[in-house]
Formats: sequence, C-alpha cells, structure tokens
Amino acid sequence: MTLVKDVLTALDDLTNGRCLKSPYDWASGKNPWVVTKSSSIPGKAIVEMPGLVWGDPEKPVRKIAVMMTMTESAIELAAATGVDAMIAHHPIGDASNSGGVLLKYYLGLYGLACFELHEAFHGLHPGIPWLHGHKPYFATVNYGGIPGNIVYVGDVFPEIHTLGDMIARLDCLMNASSDEKMLTLERSHRCCDKIEETSVAARAKILVGSLDSPMKKVVHIFPHCGFTPEHLEKIVCENPGIDTLIASISRVYPGHPLIEKAEELGLNFVCGNSHAMEIFENGVPLANALKNHLPDVEVVIFRERMTSVPLDLIGSQEIREYGSRIAGEYLHRK
Ligand SMILES: [Fe+2]
Ligand SMILES: [Fe+2]
Repeated sequence: MTLVKDVLTALDDLTNGRCLKSPYDWASGKNPWVVTKSSSIPGKAIVEMPGLVWGDPEKPVRKIAVMMTMTESAIELAAATGVDAMIAHHPIGDASNSGGVLLKYYLGLYGLACFELHEAFHGLHPGIPWLHGHKPYFATVNYGGIPGNIVYVGDVFPEIHTLGDMIARLDCLMNASSDEKMLTLERSHRCCDKIEETSVAARAKILVGSLDSPMKKVVHIFPHCGFTPEHLEKIVCENPGIDTLIASISRVYPGHPLIEKAEELGLNFVCGNSHAMEIFENGVPLANALKNHLPDVEVVIFRERMTSVPLDLIGSQEIREYGSRIAGEYLHRK
C-alpha cells in the first residue's frame, strides 16, 4: 500500500533530493528550494516548500491528481473523484489556493493530502526547448545578473525550416485543433460566439515575420522573468546567427519595446506556448515520473479550461435574473 510519505519520497527522488524531508526541515535554512516569493505587498508573500504541504504521512494513497494550480474547483474535483493526494506545481498559499478557507479545515474535511513542487522541479528536464523545436547550446537562469531570468540559445531541429514549421509542431504537440473544436462546440451549444478560452485565445502567434520566414537559431526567453531589449541586443551580439526570438510561458503585446528591438535587429519574433500549456510542458512529465516511481497508484491530470463569457449570457436565464435581482436589491450604495 502506497502512503502519503511514499509520495514525498517519490517527489524527492525524482528531483534528486530537492524536497523537504520533514515538516520542520525548512527551518534549517539548508534547502535552497525553500524560497520566498514576494512583490513586497504586505501579507501576500509565499514561501515555496517543495514537498508535503498538508496531510497525514501515514495515510494510504490510491489516486493522485497532478495539477498546475490548486483551486477550490480542484479540491472539489479531487474529493468527488476519489483522489487521495493532490500535487500542485505552483506554490500553495493557505486560503488563497483553497477558496478563501483554511487548508486544514477544507482538506481535513475531505481527507486530502497536498504537495507542491515548483522551483524544485524547474530545470530538471529540457522539455520546453524541445517542444518549441530547438536544442539549446546555451542556457542560464540569471541572464544579465537577474535571478530567474531564464534564457536559452539553441539551434532549431533539422526538420524545422520556417516559423510555420515551428508553429505547426507546437500546434500538433499541444493538440490545438482539439481545443479549437471544443470552443466551437461550446460556442454553438451555448449560442454565444463571444465565449473565449485561454488555449485558443493565447495560442502560438507571430509578432514579427511570417509563416514562411526562415529560422535556424533562436533565443528563447520568458518575458515575465525580466528580459529587456538591452539583453536581446547583448545576446544577439554574443551569438551570431540568431534569427528568431521566442517568448513562451508569458508573451508581449503590440507596443512592447522587445517587438521594436526585434524588428530593429532583423529578428523574427514568435510567441510560443502560454502559461496555460504548462500542464503539458511540466505537469505531464511530472505525472509520468510519479507513475514510474509509484506504479500501483492511479495518476490523473487536472487540466484547467478557463473561459470568458459575456455577463448577459452567463448561466441559465434564472441565474441571470437572480444575479440582477440580488445586485439591484442588496448591492447598491445607500
Ligand atoms: Fe513552472
Ligand atoms: Fe508556471
């Protein structure tokens, strides 16, 4: 019988020992993967504690759910489908990742354990460049001396000749046509063409260049990590032959100075996978690793599907009337 503590051992093994081994291990200050993330907003910081966040180490685990971000929907889905342990990639904040209520009460009520594994998982595999069709010969996690500013420089795979080839590869790997079809079906079923969905709205996109623009050597950045136009100028200078800038996880929108700089340097600029695709980039490999370490445990993936719906078309006619009545009767200024 697999226990919660065995899941912790599996996570520790697959990260080569990066997890916290006991609830008090963080206090030693020796685990570099215990990191505080803060924008200096009072009370909003989070401490990443790779490993078991909540749960009885001796409790049996028959089913594990791997997800990117734990939410109240994830907790409800886990409880309703017989999940014993949730493994979230993104750090878990008490109450913020549990629908505003305390983890101990909510997960305690449902008998769920939860684990987190974020920065301790990053950098363990070369999957993200591979998905984007290149093999890095240079990689750093602090370009320009900025911690977390991950940058790759790589040669594209021989079968990729153009931006169109790279986008077709990503679309195929990410099953983009299936997501488009789901959105078409939903729009049609709900009689609303204005429904939007992340994986379609934020799919791969060319910002500079065209589908037939040649590509051979790329610089691959993550714009939310602090990469600047000056960094772009520098890295192109250091790596002659770069013809394409790829941004993934996050991206930039028209008017951003990186677009202007890419144009000035004669580079193509492509947005690859958005953060909504990280469940495939990191979640699926993590789930497979767990399955390898714990072959008797059932592993499922919790995939989010976020949609945008106009207010006047949300839900049933009755719920629209309910929303309007409650707002009108109770939620107005006196
Ligand atoms: Fe990540
Ligand atoms: Fe992420």
